[in-house]
Amino acid sequence: MSVAIATAAALSLPIYLTRSNKFNNTRGVKGSFRVFAIIGEEGGGLVERSKSLWTTLFEVEDPRSKVPQYNKGKFLDVNQALEVARYDLQYCDWKARQDVLTIMLLHEKVVEVLNPLAREYKSVGTLKKELADLQEELGQAHNQVHISEARVSTALDKLAYLETLVTDKILQDSNTTESDLLPSTPESLDTVKSKPPRRNINVSGPVQPYHANLKNFWYPVAFSAHLKDDTMVPIDCFERPWVLFRGKDGKPGCVQNTCAHRACPLDLGSINEGRIQCPYHGWEYSTDGKCEKMPSTKLVNVKIKALPCFEQEGMIWIWPGNDPPMANLPSLLPPSGFQIHAEIVMELPVEHGLLLDNLLDLAHAPFTHTSTFAKGWSVPSLVKFLTPASGLQGSWDPYPIDMEFRPPCLVLSTIGISKPGKLEGQSTRECSTHLHQLHVCLPSTRNKTRLLYRMSLDFAPILKHVPFMQHLWKHFAEQVLNEDLRLVLGQQDRMNNGDNVWNWPVSYDKLGVRYRQWRDSVEQRSKSSPFSNLRRIQNPLNE
Ligand code: FES
Ligand SMILES: [Fe+2]
Repeated sequence: MSVAIATAAALSLPIYLTRSNKFNNTRGVKGSFRVFAIIGEEGGGLVERSKSLWTTLFEVEDPRSKVPQYNKGKFLDVNQALEVARYDLQYCDWKARQDVLTIMLLHEKVVEVLNPLAREYKSVGTLKKELADLQEELGQAHNQVHISEARVSTALDKLAYLETLVTDKILQDSNTTESDLLPSTPESLDTVKSKPPRRNINVSGPVQPYHANLKNFWYPVAFSAHLKDDTMVPIDCFERPWVLFRGKDGKPGCVQNTCAHRACPLDLGSINEGRIQCPYHGWEYSTDGKCEKMPSTKLVNVKIKALPCFEQEGMIWIWPGNDPPMANLPSLLPPSGFQIHAEIVMELPVEHGLLLDNLLDLAHAPFTHTSTFAKGWSVPSLVKFLTPASGLQGSWDPYPIDMEFRPPCLVLSTIGISKPGKLEGQSTRECSTHLHQLHVCLPSTRNKTRLLYRMSLDFAPILKHVPFMQHLWKHFAEQVLNEDLRLVLGQQDRMNNGDNVWNWPVSYDKLGVRYRQWRDSVEQRSKSSPFSNLRRIQNPLNE
């Protein structure tokens, strides 16, 4: 029996290996770098003392050096895949211990700060600041432990699945041919057969089911401010209905939006003491999906699906994939000096890739946005997107706009504003005031995107306090999007009928094309960096 490495690699170990620096004990784990650095500054004795106390629990060997090296791109047999899964689990266990160690060291640090002898030499202000810093680091470290828990749990599921495969293999008829043995992946793994590699960009035909690899990312799904203690936010993500709500401790959770009893949508119900209550017969679920109340009958053990869900910097994130979640949530805050002025959510009737293509393109502005931000713009003789050969970020020439595609579905842009209505001729840096935008295009269904839009300014902070300004920003954003939407809907229609929406890319299409290449490489689980093969792909962009 063979297991395609694309499937076995869902074990996630190869990803960890390529990201090994991030998991180095002394740096990279969010928060731990600073912890160890602080301890190092103040004499270094704490680490030794602490370690001697906790040796047995934390001195577990980092398993990465022992991992068998299999040739990526080849097939693993199921035993090899099982071995990889076991190492994966050992790694998750080791990582979780490191996270707990970080917390314990932080606690020691708090005790040290509060030590009466040390306190005599410090002002109240200094003490307060030190404690506030430590509290923040502790918060991050706790988050990290929860993420590690989620990773261990997913790795265990994966191991259990592979063990079933091994058992099946033992039971199988020895005459079966290899091609017959490619696993019919269970529905729970959501795997879609890999397409053969393509040399050119072809985005045509009805949108295919989402590739399982695309789900193995952290996705921002809502703004924290929109999820109050007693509200539910229903979302679709990768064609499944989910609902977000807060538990009794205020932390967010994401569970399937379908009651285990008789499939009633849970978001039609209400929140009762941190549990979501089904409106049909009153079953109540906690944020981890466990049914904790079944009125009028004996409580039995029922659980609905729940996704890893965390909150950071004003956004709620979920991990929809089957691989163990990545250790760190990305930061999406605007650069320093900017203030957030608007956070808007829209549900749009287009596939998220088409919307990303649109947002990553600026050359269309003087033709499409003639009633909004590009009113009166002249059409430049040449529009270019300046970026390194394999970059996903760069700047637009002749516009003062920097833009980045950030996997898996984010667009960040900074727009320099010199005079209203005039954008040409200056670089972003030369402008004294700026607008920063974050667009998150969440794949909801094959023809629906949940768009999260966050707008920040590095000037006019007073606007934040102007009544109804939020409504005005929303109105502007909708106007601009509507100008795009009718065109993208038209493209979607053509695409569904077989036309290629990337039929003839030209120089200014560079960033959109790179997004498509990134997506292809993820779907094919390319072992190399998404853009190391850029020059080998034939397209007219390499001018
Ligand atoms: S359908 Fe939800 S409790 Fe009956
Ligand atoms: Fe546009």
